[in-house]
Amino acid sequence: MTKKVLLTEAIHEEGMNIIREAAELEIAADPGEETVIKAIADADALIVRSSKVTSAIIEAGKKLKVIGRHGMGLDNIDLKAADQYGVAVVNTPDANVLSVAEHVLATMLYLCKRLKEVDNALRTGEFDRPGSLPGLVTKLGYTTQELYGKTLGLVGVGKIARRIAEICTKGFDMQVCGYDAYLAPDVIQQAGVEPCGSLEEVFEKADFISVHVPLTPGTRGLIGKKQLDLMKPTAFLINSARGGVVNEDDLYQALKEKSIAGAAVDVFAQEPPGKNHPLFTLDNVVVTPHIAAMTDGALVRMARDVAEGVVSVLRGERPKYLVNPRIWKI
Ligand SMILES: NC(=O)c1ccc[n+]([C@@H]2O[C@H](COP(=O)([O-])OP(=O)(O)OC[C@H]3O[C@@H](n4cnc5c(N)ncnc54)[C@H](O)[C@@H]3O)[C@@H](O)[C@H]2O)c1
Repeated sequence: MTKKVLLTEAIHEEGMNIIREAAELEIAADPGEETVIKAIADADALIVRSSKVTSAIIEAGKKLKVIGRHGMGLDNIDLKAADQYGVAVVNTPDANVLSVAEHVLATMLYLCKRLKEVDNALRTGEFDRPGSLPGLVTKLGYTTQELYGKTLGLVGVGKIARRIAEICTKGFDMQVCGYDAYLAPDVIQQAGVEPCGSLEEVFEKADFISVHVPLTPGTRGLIGKKQLDLMKPTAFLINSARGGVVNEDDLYQALKEKSIAGAAVDVFAQEPPGKNHPLFTLDNVVVTPHIAAMTDGALVRMARDVAEGVVSVLRGERPKYLVNPRIWKI
């Protein structure tokens, strides 16, 4: 009998074609729980981007064998319920490493070259005075920072962090240090990263701090006032991991009081964030709508990897990126 794969939202055509070759494909009218509960009744597989897969959805999927996560983070999926109902979960952990790393580099450069401020200053006439432009730049105080020789501090030294470390050491001659709660110091060292003995050491040492831990009960609120207070006033914080990892109120205070130089935020505790989010009122922060992985290449790789994972399970084959091997009985 033809299998049915339910998608909460469309993914790249390349991935949808892989599914169409093996099964019937249906896209839900919207990714909300109520709609998905109805549509999942006769589905063998579910593919989601970042919409929530609750235990009620999993329970309603009487034929459900696999949930595919188009992306890396799993905090939107009730993994306990998936285990309980024997449903395999697959994701795409390798697909967006490069894209997130590039995004982090883009924001580091944006912040230290003060692109927002200088673009705005030029457009609003601040440089419309007699004198040489370089002279005015110095006079008006728009000097910028180099990455060269600065220290990058990594919170979590996994795949994305390592790619950033590689670019920063090879491309910008930066020093890179990092803290990872689950990796031995020699493993961190082998990745070209100087191991820090604690999270706090990263915040004390680094000029750029980039966050790369998953959102779990153990990392929720991991970074707050205590860590932000340790940062140099010239240092920047970049969060492209998950909103809940950094306490947004504490970050807002640190930026408002200028106890840190700036921040780049791609992820929010509540997504989508309201248009009156306090961070949007500040000039020393660059905000992006969870877009780090939305590149041309990553969208194809995520769609292809999740489709292949789901189709493997439907064929009874062990998928490459199985999140919960404990349920795999073959
Ligand atoms: N903004 C985006 O679009 C986007 C895209 C992809 C991934 N992400 C986020 O980035 C995160 C990191 O991705 P990755 O591919 O590098 O993951 P990864 O699993 O390769 O690395 C995560 C690292 O964090 C470490 N870690 C876990 N808990 C920790 C803690 N309490 N303290 C210190 N270290 C801890 C782990 O040991 C691991 O080495 C993902 O979990 C996801 O939430 C965001």
